[in-house]
Amino acid sequence: MEQELNSLQALAGESLQSVSSNEQLEEFRIKFLGRKGEFTSIMKGLGKVPKDDKPRLGQMANAIKKEIESLYSEKRAALMATSTGAGSDSTIDLTLPGRKPETGKLHPVTQIMNEVCSIFESLGFSVAEGPDVEHDHYNFEALNIPAHHPARDMHDTFYVSDSILLRTHTSPMQARIMETQQPPLRVIAPGKVYRCDSDITHTPMFHQVEGFLVDKDVSFADLKGVLTIFTQKMFKKDLDLRFRPSFFPFTEPSAEVDIACVMCGGSGCRVCKRTGWLEILGAGMIDPEVFKMVGYDPEVYSGFAFGLGIERIAMLKYGIDDIRLYYENDLRFLSQF
Ligand code: PHE
Repeated sequence: MEQELNSLQALAGESLQSVSSNEQLEEFRIKFLGRKGEFTSIMKGLGKVPKDDKPRLGQMANAIKKEIESLYSEKRAALMATSTGAGSDSTIDLTLPGRKPETGKLHPVTQIMNEVCSIFESLGFSVAEGPDVEHDHYNFEALNIPAHHPARDMHDTFYVSDSILLRTHTSPMQARIMETQQPPLRVIAPGKVYRCDSDITHTPMFHQVEGFLVDKDVSFADLKGVLTIFTQKMFKKDLDLRFRPSFFPFTEPSAEVDIACVMCGGSGCRVCKRTGWLEILGAGMIDPEVFKMVGYDPEVYSGFAFGLGIERIAMLKYGIDDIRLYYENDLRFLSQF
């Protein structure tokens, strides 16, 4: 028996050297240490040895079993270390919870912009985009705002050179599209606009969506209808609209359009400054002068145009009172949308 135990120890040591995978290691365990393995079968002979030899052989057997077990666990640790790529003295704790990957989201302004565009697309408008860096001609001249016109003062323009500027509104797209296409037209033009202005309701860059429709016999009632459908879809409520007379050089008549306050429904609150109304856009019937400059006959065609401020709509929809929050890139703010 002594001999059997010694040769088992030698054999175990030898076979372990050729073990290089977890499966082989498991085979090794079953063969040498398993309930029906080599070791167990040798131990069965312990009952037949002379009484005097029993304690000595028992101790020897225990020591050899321990030895084989520790070789086994050493090998297991080594295999684990190489399979996880960690150093031999560190293993990866597979019981730790995993790290959740962060998924990105669209910026709230982009989300509202997409929503506005898809509402107008459902009404048959097509989407056009134009340059942020614009000619003075399209931003002003073609919109009936000649040099030295007092309306230029309202725009706080960033000039790149005497005749090149950052567009102060999306209205230049009216001239750009009409110049190259013939009526009937139904277009929206979303994009960034720039004004040298900054406080809790203004940022130097913000977003607008321009919309315009040109055809025969277009009236102010059509403008009202389109904007009513838009506000109902956008705010999911039947909100009253109010048209206040206003002035834009490129529309006549012109209006500023208010909706009944989305917060209080018109009864008066902090958001609407107790007036019950919120201004959301500028609009009007396209001025005959603008038509003449692009070569349309104002006796034949008429049309309306409007310009919406996207940040403003997002503020109303989400109840945000400081526009600058959109551009501080604070994930605690942005991840809420
Ligand atoms: N462009 C105007 C502005 O930015 C808004 C507007 C667009 C007004 C179209 C009338 C028609 O203030």
